[in-house]
Amino acid sequence: MTGIGIHDIAVATGHHVLELDDLAVQLGVDPAKYHVGIGQDAFSVPAPDEDIVTMGAAAAKQVVDRHGVEGIRTVLFATESGIDQSKAAGVFVHGLLGLPQNVRTVELKQACYGGTAALQLALGIVARNPAERVLVIAADVARYDVDTAAEPTQGAGAVAILVSADPDLIEIEPVAGLFTADVDDFWRPNDRSTALVDGRLSVSAYVDAFIGAWDDLASRGGPAYDTIDRWVHHQPFTKMALKAHRKLTQHVGADFDETELRTGFTYNRQVGNTYTASLWIALAAVLDLDDDLAGKRIGMFSYGSGSVGELVTGVVRPDHQRHRRVGAVRADLDARVRLSVPEYRALHAAGAATSEDTERPRVTAAPFRFSGVLGGARHYEATAAATATTATAAATATTATEAAGTAGE
Ligand code: COA
Repeated sequence: MTGIGIHDIAVATGHHVLELDDLAVQLGVDPAKYHVGIGQDAFSVPAPDEDIVTMGAAAAKQVVDRHGVEGIRTVLFATESGIDQSKAAGVFVHGLLGLPQNVRTVELKQACYGGTAALQLALGIVARNPAERVLVIAADVARYDVDTAAEPTQGAGAVAILVSADPDLIEIEPVAGLFTADVDDFWRPNDRSTALVDGRLSVSAYVDAFIGAWDDLASRGGPAYDTIDRWVHHQPFTKMALKAHRKLTQHVGADFDETELRTGFTYNRQVGNTYTASLWIALAAVLDLDDDLAGKRIGMFSYGSGSVGELVTGVVRPDHQRHRRVGAVRADLDARVRLSVPEYRALHAAGAATSEDTERPRVTAAPFRFSGVLGGARHYEATAAATATTATAAATATTATEAAGTAGE
């Protein structure tokens, strides 16, 4: 076998955006506190007919449209904003995408770390049977109470990652650095739809997990610091990655150049915190926007409050440019509909999960929508955008296949 890793990755986000400049005016805060102090410019807000399922399905649809469903026998859905205490969100996605019935589907949770746990499970499954591919989805809506320090660090988004043998994008290396410590830096009790956070503690807990995971990686024969060419991090706000990375460079005695992390901040500064998706959205930005990646080693640090950290490394494959989505994520970000602060707060107030029967207004322009709750059960449906994007994907695939003179994937 020639390695296992990330064959493709796709991003989706919410229909709306709140510019932090507008929140700064409302709260009488210097906007520089947001843009410079925490390193965020805006955050995505889901429409009333969007949630983790619709965003996760939108991201997964891009991957399935491009690569088909053959070999997919596992769907792993990571989230910490689950919409049901029992049924896995991935089962809804399985239905919306029309995936084959002979698939195992499960949901994973450990704060923002769950997507990385899903990736590791996927690597193990493919190692056992290299003909299989695993669809990993990480999707979250980050919600804090309004008028708290954490309000500007909300967000919404999803990624879908196709894990396979002989991947086109990144071969994940076998050694990972691990860290777990019981810390109350961030949590969401079962009776709350918004998270509780001790922001200052979350910074120190994140740094401890990063250093601890690095030391574990190093002790197990992982790559030397100066052989890691790019870095991406979990980013509840991008300044967190800067703070933690500065500490790591002090720890290993390396120079710190914050400009080297900026490409990975590009999408996260706009979508806000996306919990389980955050690290992987940073990776998507680097894959989309860095022109010199072939053969480069990327360090990927995952952190989930509570807390669990994992440091993974991977080497970018020569064919990585085949799956670039340059401009696609930027177009989705630019297409978001801007909310005023009162409009965002009205959506926030109505955003708590409910089992009351409701019918959701048609707002989203995404391929799938949450149509409402009936008899206590959530219902989803495809929109006109689903048919349109499938037709475009099929046409693009045909054109690409003809151009390449190959039979496709
Ligand atoms: N210009 C530039 N920087 C400014 C500024 C200005 N006008 N005003 C303040 N700042 C800086 C502060 O100096 C501080 O920088 P530092 O952290 O490097 O010292 C930063 O902005 C934040 O300001 P501060 O007042 O210290 O924090 P806060 O009480 O507003 O809270 C967070 C900020 C990030 C801690 C808070 O938003 C939070 O808790 N978010 C949630 C984090 C989370 O989800 N953690 C769990 C997952 S890891």
